[in-house]
Amino acid sequence: MATPESPYGTSATVVGGGKPVRVHHLAAAKKEGAKLVMLTAYDAVTAQLLDAAGTDLLLVGDSIGNVMLGHDSTLPVELDEMVVATRSVARATKRALVVADLPFGTYEAGPEQALASAVRLMKAGANAVKLEGGRPRAASVKALTQAGIPVVGHLGFTPQSVNMLGGFRVQGRGEAAEELLADAQALAEAGAIALVLEMVPEPLAARVTESLAIPTIGIGAGARCDGQVLVWTDMAGMTDWSPRFAHQFGQVGEALRQAAADYGAAVREKSFPAEKHWFSS
Ligand code: KIV
Repeated sequence: MATPESPYGTSATVVGGGKPVRVHHLAAAKKEGAKLVMLTAYDAVTAQLLDAAGTDLLLVGDSIGNVMLGHDSTLPVELDEMVVATRSVARATKRALVVADLPFGTYEAGPEQALASAVRLMKAGANAVKLEGGRPRAASVKALTQAGIPVVGHLGFTPQSVNMLGGFRVQGRGEAAEELLADAQALAEAGAIALVLEMVPEPLAARVTESLAIPTIGIGAGARCDGQVLVWTDMAGMTDWSPRFAHQFGQVGEALRQAAADYGAAVREKSFPAEKHWFSS
């Protein structure tokens, strides 16, 4: 893998040498110790900006439910909604690998249902799909992989199981650590191309990362994962609140509020539009 001077303002290794990120670049990145950068995206405008910033993977997350659609969990998200979001993100993306979430209720019945749902997301422009869960999902991961659909796994806190898990809680503590390791192994053996680890104790995430040839991408799982993922609105500071494991790298929400307030003031005091904004004939 090439390591050119990065066009994205860092001298760190650029995954895929700056070319479109493809599946084979992920394992290569792990081998070379290049960190993978993943953000969620749900629409074309945002995807274009995040892609241009050099994000390696864009996740059309089912967090669209909480973040964009006003639900209080990911459970109500429909496959049709994910298809629309995936199309929008894929159309606007030039370099990043686009991963689309299989929403709750569209794959748990088994490989046949998973395949039918994943095909819809791939036709919408995804380069890979993501699903939640461990060993019970291995057969589906294998079936999708054999059908030519790359799969990203998701272990630890899996938001679609929030009711079973009893809320937003760290997973894999104590004896559950060995279970999570076995799940990770099973997903990798079934052909998963990467594994998201969400809200897992840092030492466990490091063990999983060391034990697998495929990259781990952490969210609330420490710095020893092969990459990191954040919900873009948390990363950019769109709201006052963000989870403890996130960092606000900007105050975009406040900038947007201010821009809208300035626009409103200009309209009310009649300074906008000015002559340069209209057509005289
Ligand atoms: O949907 C999502 O945003 C996710 C991330 C939390 C990894 O699955």
